[in-house]
Amino acid sequence: MDETFRGFLDRLRQAGELIDFRQPIDIRHIATLVDQSDKAIFFHKVIGYDIPVVSGIIRTRERAMMAMGASEYLEIEERLKNGIAKPIPPQRIATSPAREVVMKGDDVDLYKLPIPMSSIYDGGPMITAGVVIAKDPEFGINTGIYRFMVKEKNLTGIDIVTPNNMRLFVQRAYEAKRPLPISISIGTHPIELLGAGFKAPLGTDEMAIAGGIRGQAVKLAAGDTVDVPYIADAEIVLEGEVLPTGWTHPEGRFGEFTWLMGGLHWNPIVRITSVSMRRDAIYYALHMPWENTGLMAPTRYAAIRQALRTASVVVK
Ligand SMILES: Cc1cc2nc3c(=O)[nH]c(=O)nc-3n(C[C@H](O)[C@H](O)[C@H](O)COP(=O)(O)O)c2cc1C
Repeated sequence: MDETFRGFLDRLRQAGELIDFRQPIDIRHIATLVDQSDKAIFFHKVIGYDIPVVSGIIRTRERAMMAMGASEYLEIEERLKNGIAKPIPPQRIATSPAREVVMKGDDVDLYKLPIPMSSIYDGGPMITAGVVIAKDPEFGINTGIYRFMVKEKNLTGIDIVTPNNMRLFVQRAYEAKRPLPISISIGTHPIELLGAGFKAPLGTDEMAIAGGIRGQAVKLAAGDTVDVPYIADAEIVLEGEVLPTGWTHPEGRFGEFTWLMGGLHWNPIVRITSVSMRRDAIYYALHMPWENTGLMAPTRYAAIRQALRTASVVVK
């Protein structure tokens, strides 16, 4: 499947699963409208911002299935297992449309991005749909999705409280007193979200799994201010460094993936070194916590089924 993020939005629109909302909208009302809507919503005019927002695109199981070209929900897990069994390494390309507009150094300004709040008690606006690629000198590349709460025009937190490979990379960088370079690709096709959301063993390239799901290589382009690639099809790309501060900065609260309100977390700080985007970029606000379940549950099913099989338990 060679569908792009925009191609998927068009398909949703054609199927009557995406509404074009053309009235001016206050950013504080986006989450509530997405919440009340059984369709995805494309907000063309967010008051005070030049960039439109799309949200809710994989909010239902049906739309998660559509994204994967699946006719049944369990087929998503099959697609993922296929990607794991037959990974296709990413293809590196020189650059991409995500470089049409670039802010670097003092020009970096996250407040130019229309980043809505998701839950009423959230501690601040959170980047929720960023596919994060990080590079460790020994272990190489890791990809996952982690939330970033915006704190200053070039500073965010990164929510890595639970054990995952990204947390290990950040811990290792902290112990070596060096920053960890990362790229954050926002507005990627759900296939890349599915691959990134799978907790692959250390050293396994999750974008190769995404390539396996697609049946063709995911294209990655070279970072500019950091030596880490980003997803070439992305709408918006942030580059930055997780600073070696340790888990010392308060972040949150968060509406959690359990659909419960989480507590305050202590997390590292990220300094954003560049923001780049397409000239007509779309900001994808993944509506946490409700929008991550449909696509993420199959990543856990796949892992649990594998663990049970290893323990010789027959799963029905
Ligand atoms: C929309 C979305 C948001 C997520 N946010 C976080 C997060 O803030 N912190 C976290 O630890 N995991 C989060 N996850 C789960 C991780 O992305 C997932 O466990 C991933 O496989 C971890 O990869 P890694 O072990 O390779 O680092 C999120 C997943 C999704 C789909």
